[in-house]
This record gives sequence, C-alpha cells and structure tokens, in this order.
Amino acid sequence: MSAPVVILGVFVADTAFRADRLPRHGETILGREFALGPGGKGSNQAVAAARAGADARMLTRLGDDAFAGMAREIWAGAGVTDHAIVQSEGYTGAAFIFLEHTTGQNAIIVCPGVAADLSVADIAQWGPVIDGAGVVMTQLEQPMAAAEAFLARGRAAGAVTILNPAPAADLPPGMLALCDYVTPNESEAEGLTGIAVHGLDDARRAADALVAQGAGAAIITLGENGALLHGPGVSAHVPVVPAGPVVETTGAGDALNGAFAAALAEGRSPEEALRFGVTAASLSVTRPGAANSMARREEIEGLLAR
Ligand code: RIB
Ligand code: NA
Repeated sequence: MSAPVVILGVFVADTAFRADRLPRHGETILGREFALGPGGKGSNQAVAAARAGADARMLTRLGDDAFAGMAREIWAGAGVTDHAIVQSEGYTGAAFIFLEHTTGQNAIIVCPGVAADLSVADIAQWGPVIDGAGVVMTQLEQPMAAAEAFLARGRAAGAVTILNPAPAADLPPGMLALCDYVTPNESEAEGLTGIAVHGLDDARRAADALVAQGAGAAIITLGENGALLHGPGVSAHVPVVPAGPVVETTGAGDALNGAFAAALAEGRSPEEALRFGVTAASLSVTRPGAANSMARREEIEGLLAR
C-alpha cells in the first residue's frame, strides 16, 4: 500500500450548461443541455487520485445539505476517505460552468460556500492526518492562509508537497518555497511569472522562474499539448495520449494532478508519475463531467501500455 495522499480543497456541485454562446446582458438564450455533478478542484483531485490507486484523504468543509450528500457519494464510490468538517451555517458550494458547444471550451464561476471558511485552525485540527501523508496537495479555491498552513505542515511532516495554483492568484512570499511541485496551466504560469506561455520554450522559462521563486520543480500543463516537467536536473515534455474524441475538458487539470500525486505516492519517478497523470487526463476529457470523468487505474495502465 502506498503512502496516503492528503488533499486540502473544495467540493462544489457543478452545474454545467452547454450552449452555442454566452447570453448578453439582459438576454435569455436556449441552452442545449444541462448536467449537475460533483466538482470542485480539491475534490476532483482526490477522486482522481483514489481512482488511480491512491489512499486519498479529503480535507474540506461541507454544509449540511443535499450537495454535501453528492460529495459523500462520489467519495464513497471512489474510495476517498472523508475528513470533512460539517457546518450547518451556510451552504456547500456550487459552480456555474458554461460549455461552449462548438469548441468544448468552458468558462466557470465557482462559489466555495462554507469551504471559504477553511482556516489555519482547521489545518491544526487535521495535523495528525497530514503528518501521515506521503504526498500533500492543494489548490487555491479555499483561503490562501489555509493552503499555506497546510503546505507548511506537510513539508514539516516530510511529505512531498504539491500546489496546483488554480484559480490564478498572487502568492504570498515564501509560498513556493513550501512546494516540491507547482502545477500551473499556461495562464496561471504567466500570472505567477510574467512570462506569456505560448510553447515549450516559454514554458521552460516560466518553470525556471518558478524554481527561482522557490519551487522544487514546475509542471506546466499545456492543454492539448500535454505537460512539461522542468526543474533542477529534470526536464521532460509529456504529450497527451489520444483516447477518443474530446467531450468535456472540465477537470482535466485535476485528473492530471490527482493521478500524478497517486503515482508519486507509490514511488514512481516524477517523469513516470507525470506520464501517468497526463494519461489519466487524456482519458478524462473523453467523458462528460469533472469528478465523474476521472479514470480508473486499470484504464490508465491499459492506455499507457498501448
Ligand atoms: O477544475 C475544474 C473545477 O473547477 C470544476 O469542477 C469546478 O467546480 C471548478 O471548481
Ligand atoms: Na471530462
């Protein structure tokens, strides 16, 4: 059994609307399709890690409502251990997801609900869980102070630390020095470094800048061009693995991060782990939904072996 992957983050209910375009102010348009399903970057990553074979543990806050039930259902099905603090004041969050029918691209508004109350005191309460981790991973949908305290605790416990800096935000000084891996997409990498990423050369320069800010190494996700792992003594570009027509890319980054963490926790090299993560993401985009589209270990191994 590999060491636990402990994830701090947010669960929300994704409400996905597929339409030809966004409405203008004051306008109503007919959509093509609606879907309600489990989302939230942290929860998506936990589900991805568990389905990929990890002993995944989820730290978050949930309300006492129907959306919290949706969280428990997806976690139980995937084998994610639920460490959520439940609070009756407030609500479990939700995301509005606009899916552009012609391109499959999305635009998202996420309201974290009670997960916006995640605090440094919560991290202290979860200390024993974090201390048992092989890998800790978080994102930026919950307050920055909680993310920072979580990474610091994971680092102190000797875990491998991963920050997926999404959605884009300014990081406090010293934050990247807590991270063995930082995993932005192209626009998040630009926000953090000022370097516009339009290809592998730019991505390598942005990764160097992230390492100069303190990160151990960077993984820059490049959409349909896969991902780049780059840092001291390591540089590898991993292309996507064609797995079928692209249906929905929501959560593809979460698929990559979750499976990458799972593979690191079982002792694979960073490059092997990234190959595993990119393969998981390649599978996830061929299916609708976010958490529901995460790949299982056998599927990932099967596609890798092909
Ligand atoms: O990364 C994808 C996720 O971002 C969606 O599931 C949505 O909930 C937003 O948080
Ligand atoms: Na998907």
